Amino acid sequence: MSGKTAKLVIGSKEVELPIHSPTAGPDVIDIGQLYAKGDVFTYDPGYTSTASCDSTITFIDGEEGILLHRGYPIEQLSSKSHFLEVCYLLLYGGLPNVAELTDFETRVTRHTMLHEQMMNFFRGFRRDAHPMAVMTGVVGAMSAFYHDSIDVNDPWQREVASIRLIAKMPTIAAMAFKYNTGQPFVYPRNDLDYASNFLRMCFAVPAEDYEVNPILSRAMDRIFTLHADHEQNASTSTVRLASSSGANPFACIAAGIACLWGPAHGGANQACLEMLEEIGTVDKIPEFIERAKDKNDPFRLMGFGHRVYKNRDPRATVLKESADEVLELLGVENNSILQVAKKLEETALADEYFIEKKLFPNVDFYSGIILEAMGFPTSMFTPIFAVSRTIGWVSQWKEMITDPKMKIGRPRQLYIGETKRDYVDIGDR
Ligand code: SDX
Repeated sequence: MSGKTAKLVIGSKEVELPIHSPTAGPDVIDIGQLYAKGDVFTYDPGYTSTASCDSTITFIDGEEGILLHRGYPIEQLSSKSHFLEVCYLLLYGGLPNVAELTDFETRVTRHTMLHEQMMNFFRGFRRDAHPMAVMTGVVGAMSAFYHDSIDVNDPWQREVASIRLIAKMPTIAAMAFKYNTGQPFVYPRNDLDYASNFLRMCFAVPAEDYEVNPILSRAMDRIFTLHADHEQNASTSTVRLASSSGANPFACIAAGIACLWGPAHGGANQACLEMLEEIGTVDKIPEFIERAKDKNDPFRLMGFGHRVYKNRDPRATVLKESADEVLELLGVENNSILQVAKKLEETALADEYFIEKKLFPNVDFYSGIILEAMGFPTSMFTPIFAVSRTIGWVSQWKEMITDPKMKIGRPRQLYIGETKRDYVDIGDR
């Protein structure tokens, strides 16, 4: 408690509300007692000015373009750490020592296989099912296969469910990809690191040996690290709200996957690459920039803009550098899509509309270019985002479930519908 308060004058009433001060970011006005004291609700569709919880996991400064995970800048983590170490950091709150990291990596590695019976579950889908539809269904179905880790009140079951979700998500995503291609599922291997295992499960075939390209596995690991967590974004808020009812973790993470799929959120990476392909050449850029500015045109520049960042998304900066590096190492540096993306960014950032509205490339603007160069179809871009964000969802879920202040989330509303009226028999209408 900061000791500071805010006074709200509502008609003849004056309501005094406590102010809480953070370790970083703006103060918050605690409105928990506002309805009881002032007989009013607050109103904030889209939660543009509303803090839904307190958290110690991730901090974003949108004005400065800063992203910290447990205090560590994303730029340092993406260059010096690796994804499973970042998973440990997000889940347990600090960087592990050698023994702690080895134990964590071993536990994750040993949970990467899926219950064999779940293969039948995959076979119920059409071959052309979007992998996000498959992931939403299969992860939700994990509640029916892993009964020994669904009691959210049992710390041990929470820990097992957390490890199972982190470990099995790449396997599920890779299986969804293989199912789309008609190729056989590839089992995980315990002698490969997380990113290499995922690449092998996606691209290996039984007919020949598969050697993981270290350039690709490093790029894959960095993409996983950059998408891991991001405060109370839409899908994380979905996981928190679903979990607040006490629902099991698999069902709640499935809800997060469903929300991430939307093109305004994690689905933007697929939509962005499809947009860049539609633009096709740099001479078409002005036409699309004008469409993005036209209020009568629903078209928006996918991969641009952000609710919080009003400066560069630091993840986009790292991904832009990584795109240059990976495409050059793969010998496709003259990739026309990358040239269109760079010219589009340059043109938009020089345009008054984007400057005035503080619209910059976000995490989804360059990620698809790298993923496509790595051999993934656009339909796999959001599943890869979901693989990475699982650690964020699980860490935020764990924080909420163990918070003594936790209660079921139940927003109120501004009712603008009909007031009470009597039923009219059909003969009298
Ligand atoms: C992610 O929350 C997170 O942290 C998400 C995420 C994470 O890691 O979890 O960072 C991942 O989802 C990144 C965002 C991916 N989405 C896209 O790239 C889709 C395109 N972007 C827009 O749909 C939009 O920018 C949002 C959804 C990202 C943010 O929308 P807001 O905060 O609700 O902003 P807004 O729609 O109110 O836009 C403000 C103004 C509007 O103009 P006015 O009505 O004020 O005149 O900016 C305009 C918008 O029309 N605008 C755009 C634009 N984004 C916003 N105009 C053209 N192109 C765009 N991309």
